[in-house]
Amino acid sequence: MTIISPSILSCDFANLEKEIKKIEPYVPWIHIDVMDGHFVPNISIGIPVIKSIRKITNLFFDVHLMIQNPEKYIDAFIDAGSDLITFHYEAARDKTPKIIEQIKNKGKKAGLSIKPNTNPNEIKDYINLCDVILIMTVEPGFGGQKFMENCAYKITDIKKLSCKNDLIIQIDGGINDLTGKLCTSLGANSLVAGNYIYKSKNIQNAIELLKK
Ligand code: DX5
Ligand code: ZN
Repeated sequence: MTIISPSILSCDFANLEKEIKKIEPYVPWIHIDVMDGHFVPNISIGIPVIKSIRKITNLFFDVHLMIQNPEKYIDAFIDAGSDLITFHYEAARDKTPKIIEQIKNKGKKAGLSIKPNTNPNEIKDYINLCDVILIMTVEPGFGGQKFMENCAYKITDIKKLSCKNDLIIQIDGGINDLTGKLCTSLGANSLVAGNYIYKSKNIQNAIELLKK
């Protein structure tokens, strides 16, 4: 089963509750993109928004932190209602195992993400400490970008480097029915999709196509 995680970055934020209710019946997770204007050249949503939407849905909160110094904010993101915290290796480097431990000590799932120019070998020592490895197939910062196919082949490398059979390999950026199919055929078991889901005329149908 592929875990589909719709990215609310592509939502109409004036109607966030309605937008979440549109996908709620069809998916187990929701992907929440947090950007700080430093790690990526964009600013999105943060802790107060997560706290508010925690009250209106029981979906699993898959929180993707695209921020510098993630360790400073992780406790607050967890207290706001996050279930999975994924942070970037490029923002953590040597601090990576400590940050994974910080998340796990709070009883939550830990994810580690790599940008398009980061080689999977750089995170080989940390893969087996994680619940999720998130491979970016666009430069993080914006929704609606073109899928970078060369990055998808990192799925095979991560699979080789991992000895956990319950590792979730998640792909984020430019996912649609075709790119999603390539990723799942290579071994991805979770797909993030923003524009493909939220800009489609039939959301249920778009999600069903991704699941296949
Ligand atoms: C990009 C974000 C993605 C983004 C995906 O930095 O991490 O989650 O919302 O959007 P699409 O699916 O439109 O590429
Ligand atoms: Zn994301």
